[in-house]
Amino acid sequence: MKKNLVVIGYGGMGAGFHVKNALTSDVVNLLGVYDIDPAKQESARAHGLKTYDSLDAVLTDEQVDLVTVAIPNDDHYDTVVRALKAGKHVLCEKPVAMNSDELDRMIRTAKEAGCIFSVHQNRRWDVDYLAMKAIYESGKIGEVFDIESRIHGSRGIPSDWRCQKKHGGGMMLDWGVHLIDQILMIVPKRIENIYCKLDHVTTAEVDDGFQLHLTFEGGCRAMIEVGTCNFIAMPRFYMRGKKGSALIRDWREPAEIVECTHWSESEVLPVQTAAGLTKTMAPRDFVTTECYAWERPHSDVHDYYRNFVDAIDGKAEQFVTHAQMMRVMRVMEAALASGEQNKVIAFDDTL
Ligand SMILES: NC(=O)c1ccc[n+]([C@@H]2O[C@H](COP(=O)([O-])OP(=O)(O)OC[C@H]3O[C@@H](n4cnc5c(N)ncnc54)[C@H](O)[C@@H]3O)[C@@H](O)[C@H]2O)c1
Repeated sequence: MKKNLVVIGYGGMGAGFHVKNALTSDVVNLLGVYDIDPAKQESARAHGLKTYDSLDAVLTDEQVDLVTVAIPNDDHYDTVVRALKAGKHVLCEKPVAMNSDELDRMIRTAKEAGCIFSVHQNRRWDVDYLAMKAIYESGKIGEVFDIESRIHGSRGIPSDWRCQKKHGGGMMLDWGVHLIDQILMIVPKRIENIYCKLDHVTTAEVDDGFQLHLTFEGGCRAMIEVGTCNFIAMPRFYMRGKKGSALIRDWREPAEIVECTHWSESEVLPVQTAAGLTKTMAPRDFVTTECYAWERPHSDVHDYYRNFVDAIDGKAEQFVTHAQMMRVMRVMEAALASGEQNKVIAFDDTL
């Protein structure tokens, strides 16, 4: 049976994603919305939606099974905890909390209340990420020793609450949370250390981009880069294995793979570079490599709510677990600390 949902926050994500998808969902029934801003309430009503007058009105409505919290980051904690204490299941937007202390208390509250509580890591449904994960797991390019994940824009950080520290602004919490989660889902290894450089190109208050380096046990490395002052965007994903490389130039494009079928070449012809010759950097011939595109994986964003509802019904484990939520939060904290202190941070990944 469908679960009754109320979306809290009728802004970009609440109205533009959760309400929109709920209206075509096969597992949730949208009862209404609540937004603190009367103009947003009016807009919701103009779109034919029922609005609640307050958060209390949502939480005391016995028909409500679950709430989706899509409001600025610094308000997640209070709203989530109140909803859990009222016995509602809670799906919270990312980043789930401002820090790991808050998250720890949210998780404990959810356990005490016996409610499902998860974070909307919707970018686990990105086809570029799914392709890279599948390539990693296929072994087609051999043992992977390096992954680069980038997202580049050129408009600076948005000028709303996202550029203010007190509201949980900054690109680490905004985009880092997605890209870190994706890398941790791809590489099934413990992180040993973290190093991060924070950008402050357009504002000193929060990071408006960063370059984060993760070193995993066994030496595999990942570099995650978010930029908001990149007028030429670098490729979205680049992955190197001992037997090949994979590249996604743009999230709209499929992954390209060059697989090394024979390590040794019979003859390497030197190439002329700007002012010299090189054999080392000469491109490989087509006899020792195979080049092909990776089929775009299937993805359906409705699967997030389907899993959430199955978890409520005890039919499935929640897809984004508490342990995963906490790990991503701790990596972000370590990354910000590394950036602020300009040093490598040893990461205890056994916690
Ligand atoms: N998963 C994703 O892909 C994704 C994308 C964008 C934003 N987000 C996240 O969604 C959340 C909201 O972002 P947004 O872009 O929709 O922001 P937004 O500013 O467009 O909308 C936020 C809405 O929340 C309302 N609001 C503020 N405080 C409230 C409160 N205490 N109770 C009820 N309503 C309140 C505001 O009036 C506003 O309408 C953030 O946590 C953000 O990080 C996630």
